[in-house]
Amino acid sequence: MQTPLLELLRCPFCRAPLADADSGLACGRCDRRFAVEDGIPRMLHPDLPGAAAKLAEAAGWVEKARRERWYEPDDALDAVLPFVNEELGWDDLNWASSSYSIRVLLDEVVGARTGLRVLELGAAKAWASRFWLARGCEYVAADILADPNIGLGRGAFYGDFARVQADGEHLPFAEESFDVVYCVATLHHALDLVRMVREMARVARPGAVVAGLNEGTRGVLRSPENPDQEAEKALRINEHVHTVWAYAAAFARAGLAIRRLERADGAPPRPFGRLLSKLPRVGPALGTLAHLSVYPYTGVSLYAERR
Ligand SMILES: C[S@@+](CC[C@H](N)C(=O)[O-])C[C@H]1O[C@@H](n2cnc3c(N)ncnc32)[C@H](O)[C@@H]1O
Ligand SMILES: [Zn+2]
Repeated sequence: MQTPLLELLRCPFCRAPLADADSGLACGRCDRRFAVEDGIPRMLHPDLPGAAAKLAEAAGWVEKARRERWYEPDDALDAVLPFVNEELGWDDLNWASSSYSIRVLLDEVVGARTGLRVLELGAAKAWASRFWLARGCEYVAADILADPNIGLGRGAFYGDFARVQADGEHLPFAEESFDVVYCVATLHHALDLVRMVREMARVARPGAVVAGLNEGTRGVLRSPENPDQEAEKALRINEHVHTVWAYAAAFARAGLAIRRLERADGAPPRPFGRLLSKLPRVGPALGTLAHLSVYPYTGVSLYAERR
């Protein structure tokens, strides 16, 4: 059974409950109003800190998709995301990493549990909805990008579930609401990484799974200006690249105990970190920390438990 979205939603400014008002939502405490368009509450209010940069990023994604000619919906593609390599014969490293990581989250970290309430941050089209709905979970997709073709609007292709235009640094949800809170390739877009992870932890229940999948990393001596991100930055997409230590520290500061840490594509930590990875129990995480500290640019996935 789907919990009415209004029960979960809170004002992103003052965290008070919201009420229906004039075909939108209203906060009874600070009096702010939020539109609801195409069934999607628009909680990325222009007064929120950083909202201008986030709205500019949303426009940047549309511009990028148009320029690169993937703006028009493609049912055959969207039906198989993220498994485009396996299903369509692509050879795409980024999708390979997201595919591997979502499989780990679903099959190994969440496992046989069903009926969970799940929040995906930075969900875009919400391609993962089909996996959660098939497991009898309640699924809520959130993103700053509400576009009908490449953002939350496209989620209707996958079924009927809650979609909310929201900033991950100011989540419009009540504390301790979700059993799983995760994102794919989204933390590195935060203007404030620590704040985004803290928000994910806040809306997660004690014992919940909180995960960041396929987030870009740089070796500790590498420049934070990754040349591969220049084109997106020119479109005002908020690209950053962090060390694995910055992600791990953000999780620790948010009260999240990291249970599994590995390269986003699942490749073993070689050559750096190979010996460390052989230690019992803590080896794989330590090996990955050593590996990603030295490896120039790649991706990490972190799976944690909210304390
Ligand atoms: C690289 S895309 C990944 C999209 C999707 N997770 C996937 O794997 O196909 C990053 C996503 O993060 C979203 N995003 C960026 N900053 C955000 C923020 N502050 N809050 C919520 N979503 C954000 C973007 O709009 C975009 O959809
Ligand atoms: Zn308010």
